[in-house]
Amino acid sequence: MAILVTGGAGYIGSHTALYLQEKGEEVIILDNLEKGHEEAVLGTKLYRSDLRNEDVLDEIFRAHHISSVIHFAANSLVGESVEQPLEYYDNNVIGSYTLVKKMVEHGVKKIVFSSTAATYGEPKSIPILESDPTIPTNPYGETKLAIEKMLKWADEAYGLKSVCLRYFNAAGADPLGRIGEDHTPESHLIPIILQVALGQRENIKIFGDDYQTEDGSCVRDYIHVMDLAQAHYLALKKLEETNESGIYNLGNGTGFSVKQVIEVCRTITEKEIPAVITERRAGDPATLIASSQKAKEQLQWEPQYPNLEEIISHAWYWHQANPSGYKK
Ligand code: UFG
Repeated sequence: MAILVTGGAGYIGSHTALYLQEKGEEVIILDNLEKGHEEAVLGTKLYRSDLRNEDVLDEIFRAHHISSVIHFAANSLVGESVEQPLEYYDNNVIGSYTLVKKMVEHGVKKIVFSSTAATYGEPKSIPILESDPTIPTNPYGETKLAIEKMLKWADEAYGLKSVCLRYFNAAGADPLGRIGEDHTPESHLIPIILQVALGQRENIKIFGDDYQTEDGSCVRDYIHVMDLAQAHYLALKKLEETNESGIYNLGNGTGFSVKQVIEVCRTITEKEIPAVITERRAGDPATLIASSQKAKEQLQWEPQYPNLEEIISHAWYWHQANPSGYKK
């Protein structure tokens, strides 16, 4: 039996695919390589196709004994989603709808879904619990929430069981340096800071220092990509054992401000890393910190790399060895 990983050539998908294989699982990857990288696919078969291509999904479900699906394939940038909402509805919602329809047709009844803290919107209280209100403030979070709801109704109607994992800020890289984080254009904080450390950018822009936080810059909960990978594996195991759907936050429960992250990067890289304060970025909540108690208790999830120094040093190891990312 094999696990179909959609978006398995992307950042979190490729790390999860590697982790699953290390656990002895057979993995098949579907990715259109719009954001993903062929070089990030190690040791498994890649179908290069869009999720909305029903024929390819039929072909995969017929050719392999797929027991379950882990679904990453999506557009995932908050700012971009505000500018191009229809693109997000098309790729994220229609893509997931097509996948779920084909799963139902082919009798595949288990899915782990890559969701996000962006489903909560501006939090009412910190740390954020899974039972807190979900009022997204951008189309990205809205589309992910719509998919979570589609999965809930698909469970009731067709017995399709799902685990939705709401990630906070994914960071770091494979500790052995085989794969890492490479987005074009890069918009995430840690890889941008490391690009400054590599001399590829002049400075890091701190988007606002007048937030209601200790040092005025935004606070986020950074979680190692391999710990996210572990959670997907455990979520699948839980689905196999209990056949129960669920929603879980994934974070470390500790917040770091943008300024603190820059300081840790300076220590790890031993580079100066000039920083300048600029305007706030639209749609950024001041503080996002997860409560992941539920995942720890119910999935037996135990993050292996909760320490921000270690998260950043794994990212730095990969960025130093691959200064242009996957581009040769
Ligand atoms: N930031 C800067 N300068 C930069 C880039 C980022 O100051 O050049 C700040 C942002 O304003 C934010 C923090 O660094 O306060 C982290 O920003 P990222 O862009 O790295 O991450 P986000 O918190 O915006 O978003 C991430 C994922 C989303 C997900 C969200 C959930 O990219 O997909 O976490 O918490 F929805």
